[in-house]
Amino acid sequence: MLAIETHELVKQYKNGVRALDNLNLEVNKGEIFSLLGPNGAGKSSLINILTTFYKPTSGNVTMLGKDICKEPAWVRTQIACVAQHISIDEHLSLMENMTFQSRLYKVEPKVAKIRINSLIDIFELSRYLKYPTASYSGGVKRRLDIAMNMVSIPKILFLDEPTVGMDVMSRKAMWEMLLKIRDEYGTTIFLTTHYLEEADRLSDTICIMKNGKEVAQGTLESLRGYIRQNMLCIVFPNTREAKKYKGILENMEFTKFAGVRGNSVVLGVEDSRNSFTIVNKWLLEHHVAFDAIEIVEPSLEDVFLALTSSEENRGGRGL
Ligand SMILES: Nc1ncnc2c1ncn2[C@@H]1O[C@H](COP(=O)(O)OP(=O)(O)OP(=O)(O)O)[C@@H](O)[C@H]1O
Ligand SMILES: [Mg+2]
Repeated sequence: MLAIETHELVKQYKNGVRALDNLNLEVNKGEIFSLLGPNGAGKSSLINILTTFYKPTSGNVTMLGKDICKEPAWVRTQIACVAQHISIDEHLSLMENMTFQSRLYKVEPKVAKIRINSLIDIFELSRYLKYPTASYSGGVKRRLDIAMNMVSIPKILFLDEPTVGMDVMSRKAMWEMLLKIRDEYGTTIFLTTHYLEEADRLSDTICIMKNGKEVAQGTLESLRGYIRQNMLCIVFPNTREAKKYKGILENMEFTKFAGVRGNSVVLGVEDSRNSFTIVNKWLLEHHVAFDAIEIVEPSLEDVFLALTSSEENRGGRGL
């Protein structure tokens, strides 16, 4: 069964901006679903509709089998949403924050105690119990925020950019915690992120959106299929050289998109074998110093660039 299904969802604001434009999405129960998209793609507008904060202009959303516009109150009992700003009360201790949340959701005290302890465990918060919450780092505050929102054991947990501003270690730790939540509670997790690595490591399904529409949706593997065999990687002696030649290589007739990754230029091309021969020949003829040229498997970043950098609408989700 699907956790969320949107059908031809439209959100048009009063100022005329069409933030969602006939969006179709399917989120499976028990999965981690990541929504990726450039600024202004419509991610927050979508989260606001799914969490019943905004009403759609047209189209519909079925959540856990029910129409969210017809039964918003019921939907609210099934979900939890952790917004980007931290919502813990810094005047209360960690335990008081958790207990307060459990009372808000009318969780029976005995049950609440067990849940709270298990969540403190999953989110590795026990060592912070004795310190005031105001002294926590941003990462620990966010962990507590998510733990608090899990006290009601929501069926679906919405997270708007859960690891923004965290250092690499804290971000990786957060990924482990979210995977535990999915596996131990069977919670469906719907998150938005700007970090491609996050979507790559964490998600069962990834949706890339642009201009209010889904441009691709599927597993990382299926998304890679979109540009499989169609990428060239040219390794230069240093980043400066790579940047210099990117400009020339991206203007070649067969190049669909280009990016610099470390010392390399990565090219999305129509036909990788043919382009390989042409680029190789060009580099040799122009006496360009390069270390290697190869056909590579695209990363999520490459897929993202390919799907969101082009002005034309590539449309469809038949991946
Ligand atoms: N309340 C509003 N009234 C009018 N226009 C809005 C409103 N909220 C968002 N928009 C517009 O709708 C479009 C989509 O915005 P939204 O915030 O949903 O994008 P986003 O994908 O979350 O972007 P970001 O990555 O920057 O958070 C943008 O053009 C934005 O300016
Ligand atoms: Mg947003």
